Formats: sequence, structure tokens, C-alpha cells
Amino acid sequence: MEVVPLTTADEVAALAADAVEGLVRARPGAVLGLATGSSPLPAYGELLRRHREGTGPSYDEVVCVLLDEYVGLPPGHPQGYRATIARELTDALGLAPDRVHAPDPTDPERAGADYEALLAALGGVDLQVLGIGSDGHLAFNEPGSSLASRTRIKTLTERTRTDNARFFASLEEVPRHVLTQGLGTILGARHLLLLATGAGKAEAVAAAVEGPLTAQCPASVLQLHPHVTVLLDGPAGARLAGLDHHREVYAAKPSWQGL
Ligand code: GLP
Repeated sequence: MEVVPLTTADEVAALAADAVEGLVRARPGAVLGLATGSSPLPAYGELLRRHREGTGPSYDEVVCVLLDEYVGLPPGHPQGYRATIARELTDALGLAPDRVHAPDPTDPERAGADYEALLAALGGVDLQVLGIGSDGHLAFNEPGSSLASRTRIKTLTERTRTDNARFFASLEEVPRHVLTQGLGTILGARHLLLLATGAGKAEAVAAAVEGPLTAQCPASVLQLHPHVTVLLDGPAGARLAGLDHHREVYAAKPSWQGL
């Protein structure tokens, strides 16, 4: 796991955008795994800025897959994750809607197996952007999720519903059920890029990076993956015991290595 302690959320966004663009330049038909939530928004904003200025790559052949989706929202609800990612990123990058995939919330019984089959048919995810929940959840894999889990329906904790209520008119409107890639599914991506900013993520980041491998901190499963990059702003990295070492390692990183 490579932990990159940066200072500002803008630095996290710029480096994340570099990683996405580097992949798409090297592999125009890349399968890009996207996360929703607040954490990746500055990175998506940076990708859009570069795209508008004409310095970004073409996304015409890219395929995007989402990590998760709410179950039970009325069709067309603006907080559905498909609608959210279209609004925040993929429409403005010029990606046709049929190149952006998410688990199907209208058929939650079959959606998990169908989504696993889709990911396999696409040849797997090249780069998966991830955020982290304040309780250490990854995608919608809440504490207690099997470290080997696959895409399936899950029930949100009250803490996550409360965290996400800011996107809805009221807490009552936040769905209880979701479809989410499993932790085992996420581990299948070739490169995992975790973005965390703000003091509210510091404890979860420390538990994921330095704590024991445990289903009680789903993001600790990242310790099992051979290619993980963790981009942190100052506050999000503040609880890491090994912060100074990570800084030294990053400063001494060979220029040929890339992320
Ligand atoms: C949400 C999403 C996750 C996201 C996490 C953190 O519930 N399902 O994919 O990473 O919680 O969200 P945020 O980045 O808004 O803090």
C-alpha cells in the first residue's frame, strides 16, 4: 500500500486526476471504477476542468462502473448514484449513458449476480476510485461485511444514513437498502485509489491503513491488495503513526515509478 500524505484537498484532486488521465491515455478503452460521495468530487472537478480546457484525454472509449447504488428511490431521483455520477462527471466528459454501469436497483434479487457477470465480461476494473466512510466502510460495505463478499444487497447503518442525509431533504428519505460491490469484488480491480480528506476521516484512515485486518473496519481489506494508493490531505492523515515515514517514502519515490 502506498500512502501519499499531501496537504490540501486540491493536491489530492490533482494527483487523482493525473492517475485517471494516465490510465486513459495508456488504455483508451479502460474500465474506470467510480465512487460517489463528497470525497472524489474535487478530483472529478479537476478532470472536468482539464477536459474543458482540452488538455485531458478522450473518454470516448472508456467504460465506467459504479461501486454501489441505492435501492428504493423513485425512478429518476437525483440522488440515485447513476444520476449523480452522470450529473457530476460522465455527461460532461461526453460519455454515453450506456457506457456507465451500476447495479440495477429495480431488480435487487438478481442485480448482484448480474453485476458480477458484467464486471467479468468487461475484463475487470482497471482503476477503482474509492472513498471511505467515517466508520471505515468501503462502497456500502458496512462494518461486519465479509472480506470476501461479492455484489449484493445490504442494509445501511444509522450512522451511514445520517452521514448521507445531507444529500436528501430529510433522514427519512435516505434509503435503508443498497446494492454494493462486495469487498472481494473491489479487490478484483487492478489498482485501487482511495481518496480521503478532512479530519472526519482521520480515524477511519488510520484503522484501515495501520489497524488489524478485520471486517469491523471494511477498508482494512485494502491491506490484502497488491496495488493500493491512498491519497490524503493533512487532516485525513493526521492520525497515522507512520505519517513521517510515508512522507519520506513519497519524497524519495523514483520518478519512473508512477502511482
Ligand atoms: C458513501 C458511499 C461511499 C463513499 C462513502 C464516503 O456512503 N457509498 O462510496 O466512499 O460513503 O462518502 P463521502 O466521500 O461523502 O464522505
